[in-house]
Amino acid sequence: MCGIVAYKGPKLNAGKVVFDGLKLLEYRGYDSSGIAIHNNGNVEVFKKKGKVKNSEKLFKNSKISSNIAIGHTRWATHGEPSDVNSHPIVSYNKKYTIVHNGIIENYKELKSLLEDEGYKFQTDTDTEVLVNFIESCTSKSEDFAKGFSYALSKVTGAFGIVLMVNNNPDILYAARKGSPLAIGQFNGNFILASDASPIIKYTNKIIYLENDTFLKISGNSFKIFDFKLKSKNKNFIEVDLELQKVELGKYDSYMLKEIMEQPNSLTQTMLGRVKDNDITLGGITDENGNNLIEAKRIIIVGCGTSWHAALTAEYFLEKYLKIPVEVEYASEFRYREPIIYKDDVVFVISQSGETADTLEATKIAKKKGAVVLGIVNAVGSSIARETDEGCYLHAGPEIGVASTKAFTSQLLVLFMIGIKAGYLKRHISESKYYKMINQLKEIPSKVDEIIRESSLIEKVAKKIYKKDHCLFMSRGNNFPVALEGALKLKEISYIHAEGYPAAELKHGPIALIDKNMPVVVICTKSDEYEKILSNVMEIKARKAIVIGVLDPKNFHMKKHFDHYIEVPDTSKDFSPIINQIPLQLIAYYCAIYRGCDVDMPRNLAKSVTVE
Ligand code: F6R
Repeated sequence: MCGIVAYKGPKLNAGKVVFDGLKLLEYRGYDSSGIAIHNNGNVEVFKKKGKVKNSEKLFKNSKISSNIAIGHTRWATHGEPSDVNSHPIVSYNKKYTIVHNGIIENYKELKSLLEDEGYKFQTDTDTEVLVNFIESCTSKSEDFAKGFSYALSKVTGAFGIVLMVNNNPDILYAARKGSPLAIGQFNGNFILASDASPIIKYTNKIIYLENDTFLKISGNSFKIFDFKLKSKNKNFIEVDLELQKVELGKYDSYMLKEIMEQPNSLTQTMLGRVKDNDITLGGITDENGNNLIEAKRIIIVGCGTSWHAALTAEYFLEKYLKIPVEVEYASEFRYREPIIYKDDVVFVISQSGETADTLEATKIAKKKGAVVLGIVNAVGSSIARETDEGCYLHAGPEIGVASTKAFTSQLLVLFMIGIKAGYLKRHISESKYYKMINQLKEIPSKVDEIIRESSLIEKVAKKIYKKDHCLFMSRGNNFPVALEGALKLKEISYIHAEGYPAAELKHGPIALIDKNMPVVVICTKSDEYEKILSNVMEIKARKAIVIGVLDPKNFHMKKHFDHYIEVPDTSKDFSPIINQIPLQLIAYYCAIYRGCDVDMPRNLAKSVTVE
């Protein structure tokens, strides 16, 4: 969602630092952008609806060069995407200029208080309410810090903000409640951003501002306070993120890059964990390992693609741990007073580690005394810090809005956890344990085999990209793969798509089938494949365009499909990782043929930091 970049320092050109950074945050999803910059005693604002290059062009025409600026990419919440609603936003009496990521929930109440004081508003945004509220509170307070922290403590909702003092180019404030903000410092230069990617070019030592704290940069030093004005420690962490990992390299899009790099990301996920004939998960201590083995129930919480990973894991964990596994949408879990016991183990899954609903679900599960383990990709993210412990994906930064490599690494981590726990619970024999470990090791090369044949998948996509609808179906542990295949297709190509358990089609969706409906059937080695074949016959009889994802065991079924994609033979347990790859590629090629921007699909944001 919204992205923030700010710079203050003696060394660099603030405008350039801000726009370079905003471009690195484009992946988060946005609909307008802007910059505010100090210029000879004034603050000038350049903002525009649409791409970053629009506001950058305006700014470049001004030829301003300065050493302090704040910038923003906005993903509209309150008020439509427009030039006027874009950030930065200047306060009513022109004392401050703000950029804001998040949502102010009590903005209506604050707005009416401010209107009573004579404030007038030019935008439809909650952000204008926030900056005016800060202006009002600080003007009534004996010093700025008191008024500022008072204002922040009265705001409900989520915010990451950077605030410029319009008559003082030597000071910059930032604050956080919910929405993340990272700070890098080098030789008296400061860069603030919504994530580390705009900062790592300059330094890899970063502070993630804690919730309910604010930062004051003055001259070449800075201090952090909580909202009660108590001074806080500066906890720098070293971020292991290389610039080349966030650059496109030879690819046209991050989505394609991330699909193609899965043999490597999956290898990285196993690195140091799957060795010789054993699985070692360093992120989970023996104590929590024991809690997992003794757990009466597992609950897995996530959103979107991460929820699909959870659903796939449900099949695996119930099979090998022999305890009930419940899978929950984080947004539903947090509001329905869930029953959680102390001997439950709760896994929270999140690529970004910043999803607002998943973060809140984490806090609720912790409060109820369950062991909460995170399965997160973004190192140092809010969920990673909030969970007791867990496993990082180590899949590398995922920039494309549609999650691809994170999904396959999430599955891999969940499988590794399940294999180890199943073995320790003696539901997996020693010989089966070794066999499964060897099967895991083979996954990256099997994924590579599919990727090398991607031109065949492109041909299949060419057959369906003009359609308005598409169904995906499978059974068992590949049913969630069908759901994920449908999600990928709809979010980046805007083809309406749904996933179903194959047997469910007869209970309603089969009414949709005619000669214009493509149905992608994931039909790899499975005890139920004879049954899937019956379902294929039913849709063929209704003239659907049937596309099969088949493995060598099922090649004899080719004749029943209009088109098919071959995937390598793998164990049924791990087939969801393999089978997802062609579905990612189908979505990618359909979107490209339809002329869609795969990295920035409309209306979507990479980290969903508001509920
Ligand atoms: C779909 C997608 C989203 C995310 C969801 C959760 O391609 O990326 O559905 O999976 O927003 O995000 P994380 O995993 O960051 O919590």
